Amino acid sequence: KKKPVIAIDGFSSTGKSSISKQIAKRLDLIHIDTGALYRGITFFALENCLNDQQEIDIKSLFSQLDKIHLEFKPNHEFLELYLNGKNIDKEIREVRVSNNVSIIAKQPEIREFLLDFQRNLAAKGGVIMDGRDIGTVILPNADFKFFVTASPEERARRRFLELKNEGKEVSYDEVFQNLVTRDKIDSEREVAPLKQAEDATLIDNTTLNKEETIELILSHILK
Ligand code: C5P
Repeated sequence: KKKPVIAIDGFSSTGKSSISKQIAKRLDLIHIDTGALYRGITFFALENCLNDQQEIDIKSLFSQLDKIHLEFKPNHEFLELYLNGKNIDKEIREVRVSNNVSIIAKQPEIREFLLDFQRNLAAKGGVIMDGRDIGTVILPNADFKFFVTASPEERARRRFLELKNEGKEVSYDEVFQNLVTRDKIDSEREVAPLKQAEDATLIDNTTLNKEETIELILSHILK
């Protein structure tokens, strides 16, 4: 029996990635976190494309796209992101990357740059891919599509606790602002905006924990 292709989209800090990882384990699928790719390009830009004001120079980034080679390689159970042969899986979670990624992700040139890369990863089936436009643009023919959301306050609370547990110095307000700003840019961009695919199942997990969300999604897949 052919293994399914599952698309999981939704707002930031809904737990999409960690939920997808667990579902991948349960169903023996490969999990692909597409946000990591936009983060990887943002990391490259922060390292190589800053102007005198220490801001990302988009033109400079566009002219250097051919110097960006991204790759997912397995490490223990899951895939980690490599940029030009170097593991950047930790670096792409830095706050400076989170604060800049949506500006990079809204550029049509960047989305085009990552389009085939993402489709190729799913070509053989047996994947669960999470992002913002997987069900709408990247894998419109996915076997299952979910759109995960939760209230902004709850999402900011989860993200804040996560960063605090990692020992990062951030305030709740900073986390809340980053999240709301990111969602706004992601939802309002012209190309491949964040939105629920017509045939996606809506999962609101404001009052559900991770296990409950996983069980709910699995119940749709296995029924
Ligand atoms: O999923 P994560 O929060 O790591 O994604 C980081 C950012 O990458 C998002 O806020 C969004 O701007 C961008 N992104 C996207 N399309 C995807 C995945 C992520 O535009 N499929």
